[in-house]
Amino acid sequence: MKAITILAAATLTFSVASAQDAIDFEKQILPILKESCFKCHEKEKEDNGKIKKPKGGLRLDSAEAIMKGGKDYPSENVVAGKPDASWLLKTMTLPESDEMAMPPEGKGDRVSAENQALVKKWIESGASFGAWKGVE
Ligand code: HEC
Repeated sequence: MKAITILAAATLTFSVASAQDAIDFEKQILPILKESCFKCHEKEKEDNGKIKKPKGGLRLDSAEAIMKGGKDYPSENVVAGKPDASWLLKTMTLPESDEMAMPPEGKGDRVSAENQALVKKWIESGASFGAWKGVE
């Protein structure tokens, strides 16, 4: 009998965010939010005579609103330096079946792992918006 040794070399490579590695919100993060989140998290607007309010009271179309958060997690939408405490990221990374997963199940494509990593890095490195203010 031969003893078989399986060496599972589970090497996980994390890209470590360094201070120099700053993320440009407007170029790298905004397009992700626009594509996956704006549909439901924009300023109140009229659509065919119907008023559409931002879901969960959360707007993601201005820097101020992003930091203010929504009705259940005010001030915890983005906690600068703490991606694990930030619901903006948490909702993207939850399994699709979770009721807080965003976009909600069946309501849009999941944010890719690559883009989740960018959002994580952006929050880790201080969640700066640069000159971007967004919609008033
Ligand atoms: C199809 C509509 C839709 C899309 C698209 C969508 N959401 Fe939501 N979102 C909702 C609804 C509805 C709620 C309210 C859920 C509740 O209160 O139970 C919500 C709530 C939230 C909350 C909680 C706000 C709070 O403080 O109560 C966060 C955070 C959130 N969404 C983030 C996102 C992110 C990030 C994206 C994009 C990746 C996104 N959502 C895309 C519909 C959507």
